[in-house]
Amino acid sequence: MTLRLESTTALVTGASSGIGEATALALAVEGAAVALVARRKDRLDDLAARIEAGGGRALVIEADVTDEEQARAAVLHTVATLGRLDTLVNNAGVMLLGPMEQAPVQEWQRMVELNVLGLMYCTHAALPHLVAAAQDSPRRVADLVNVSSVAGRIARAGSGVYNATKFGVGAFSEGLRQEVTSRHVRVCLIEPGAVETELGSHNRPEVQEMLTARFGTMERLQSQDISDAITYVVTRARHVAINEMLIRPTEQEG
Ligand SMILES: NC(=O)c1ccc[n+]([C@@H]2O[C@H](COP(=O)([O-])OP(=O)(O)OC[C@H]3O[C@@H](n4cnc5c(N)ncnc54)[C@H](OP(=O)(O)O)[C@@H]3O)[C@@H](O)[C@H]2O)c1
Repeated sequence: MTLRLESTTALVTGASSGIGEATALALAVEGAAVALVARRKDRLDDLAARIEAGGGRALVIEADVTDEEQARAAVLHTVATLGRLDTLVNNAGVMLLGPMEQAPVQEWQRMVELNVLGLMYCTHAALPHLVAAAQDSPRRVADLVNVSSVAGRIARAGSGVYNATKFGVGAFSEGLRQEVTSRHVRVCLIEPGAVETELGSHNRPEVQEMLTARFGTMERLQSQDISDAITYVVTRARHVAINEMLIRPTEQEG
């Protein structure tokens, strides 16, 4: 049986946990060779072993994508080792919430540097390879998937800077989409609601209490719910571009 992503290569940032880990596994199951990018190498090694045990191919790349050189090197290492790049999933992100007046400005810097600049560095480095893949691969299409959030569509008190980063990802994605879509590089924005991952755990204790109060009793999404959506997006026929997908837990109101 031919797998839907056979002979393609995908790079997933933030593959060491949560949505990125689930996405890397899912794309590997579809036959893609997967470059796993994040800072926690032990977690990436473990994931690579699981992918390989399932008959897949994985490349571990320890990198901090907020450093432009490391982001570019991760893309180049992927192409040099796995031969090409058909799919980039810009998933790495951080969410540091709380009222702006009391916020440590370093938290804002971390979010802008990763959620916006890191995503842009990876995209810039990957673009020539995605354009080439759309021209010369058997599928003749390539995919850029940017993981945004419901927070990229609706701003709230206590999350304005995270909102700003994810609204920025939306603007960047739409501008880029118009530049590359006629060359069959599809750009998709994935906008999850609350997903059960490590994301909230990096917040200050008082912010974690706020998150527990808001989401504590809700049945949240699982990472696999989002990786299912990403798999759907990147396995469509060449003439079908899914540009935006908003996925909330059924119980999430805002
Ligand atoms: N969970 C949710 O409710 C939710 C909702 C909407 C949107 N999202 C978005 O989904 C994406 C994934 O988040 P998640 O929920 O799966 O959280 P997560 O489990 O905390 O995953 C974040 C990933 O980003 C990586 N990362 C952090 N800093 C990095 C850096 N400087 N360079 C490279 N990788 C880095 C982390 O790996 P290392 O620490 O090993 O580097 C980790 O693999 C984020 O963009 C987030 O904004 C999540």
